[in-house]
Amino acid sequence: MPYVTEVDLAHPTEDSADAWWRDAVVYQVYPRSFADSDGDGVGDLAGIRDKLGYLELLGVDAIWLSPVMRSPMADHGYDVADPRDIDPLFGDLADFDALVAEAHEREIRVTMDLVPNHTSDQHAWFAEALAASPGSPARARYYFRDGRGEGGTEPPNNWRSMFGGPAWTRVTEPDGSLGQWYLHLFASEQPDLNWDNPEVSDDLARTLRFWLDRGIDGFRIDVAHGLAKPDQLPDMAHNDESELLDSAEGDPRFDQDGVHEIHRNIRKVLDEYPGSVAVGEVWVDDDERFGDYVRPDELHLAFNFRLVQADFDATAIREAIDHSIRAVGRVGATPTWTLSNHDVDREVTRYGGGAVGRDRARAMALVKLALPGVAFLYNGSELGLPNADLPDEALRDPMWERSGHTERGRDACRIPLPWEGTEPPFGFTDGKSAPWLPIPTDWSGLTVESQLEDLDSTLTLYRSALELRAKHPEFSGAEIEWYGSPSECLAFRRAGGVICALNASAEPISLPPGTLVLASAPLIDGKLAPNAAAWLV
Ligand code: GLC
Repeated sequence: MPYVTEVDLAHPTEDSADAWWRDAVVYQVYPRSFADSDGDGVGDLAGIRDKLGYLELLGVDAIWLSPVMRSPMADHGYDVADPRDIDPLFGDLADFDALVAEAHEREIRVTMDLVPNHTSDQHAWFAEALAASPGSPARARYYFRDGRGEGGTEPPNNWRSMFGGPAWTRVTEPDGSLGQWYLHLFASEQPDLNWDNPEVSDDLARTLRFWLDRGIDGFRIDVAHGLAKPDQLPDMAHNDESELLDSAEGDPRFDQDGVHEIHRNIRKVLDEYPGSVAVGEVWVDDDERFGDYVRPDELHLAFNFRLVQADFDATAIREAIDHSIRAVGRVGATPTWTLSNHDVDREVTRYGGGAVGRDRARAMALVKLALPGVAFLYNGSELGLPNADLPDEALRDPMWERSGHTERGRDACRIPLPWEGTEPPFGFTDGKSAPWLPIPTDWSGLTVESQLEDLDSTLTLYRSALELRAKHPEFSGAEIEWYGSPSECLAFRRAGGVICALNASAEPISLPPGTLVLASAPLIDGKLAPNAAAWLV
């Protein structure tokens, strides 16, 4: 391979079997957009199973499936109507079992999303709550409150939904009168569960066991920082529309102290299944408060989104890394690294788009994969996919409607994957139905097929990086040591010995001493190019 020097470093790293995740590369599959086996234009479980060979070739340790449970799809599966069944759009439990079994044969672990903060408005519990009267036990599983003002016409407090508009919707009572309001931090089809109600935690424990008994290796816990709500549901001090998934200090909707008891209970169930793992979605900036989520008796891991939030700027990246390591170091937990997921702009686009954005995304892939801890990789990152420009009529994210067409939402980062061929749908589906989001016609150079044999492709870069990372003891050690480096650049060394250098400046820079093992771009006269990173040992 052009930018790889073969060095003999083949000593597999030691790790305890139960903590397999400590240095894992976890690949996020967004099932709607991964691969469609039945021609309806939406990806499914059999499609994922068909592509396991690809994931094995890529070299990932585990997959994380965004929700595949029964759902009316108001938020594409993050509105769950039955947490212990598979949505027919994706297949059935037999397809799920077959996927898990085949993944395991290929030594790929399978983790899945769980959505404990809310249910779908089509969940049996919510239907019961609507049919019941104010103050009833059925309503106590959710947050039903009387409205404020005369006749209760104002929402119970001033909270905003993360998707825009008020976080409360008024219901019509069984007798036909306008009645109480219910809380939904997201879409109105996603009523928030009341985690003070023991039925809610008992039900989640049942769900955890249901999937663990089927052989699942762990869970991603959706909105892990939002499960507990403060007593009395006080008003927000500032209720301007907040950025989706931003973490606001002092925001009463998130990061309440009560959330930790919930995570301790989740952990107790997982401890009955050695080798299982829980990773929480935790949008909390404060390092100490973030670390609290991964104390030894809480979640194993939490997504740290600082790299997602950092610009392509050496100082910002270094700060993001320092914070992420420090936040978990205090409690002896493992750091996690994420450049993108199904909620945020793809890194190629975030870093400026076009060739520059792609180069920077490649460089940051090497930075991420050199760091100690768990690396999450969103499907399509390994192909260097950018966000797509979508016409208004193609938009499907509930944010678009809820924001009154001011927020375009997250569809642009959820485009189906291009697998092969020269025109849409690029093998994603067999063409009987259009893909659920249109795939740009100019993605033929980004398909798996076109990149697989191309030594300069982003896919080849990822494959090389994952292979080096998995096989070489240089990628061991929880600590990193920063090297002095030219301005707008950074370099660090893992305890095991690998050195990663990043050039975020406009000029080529000299590499630190060592043997080059991989670079994200060809060297320029022996120097590291701008917008490039390299690994040395
Ligand atoms: C999480 C998910 C996001 C979803 C929201 C509501 O943030 O990642 O996609 O819309 O929760 O469940």
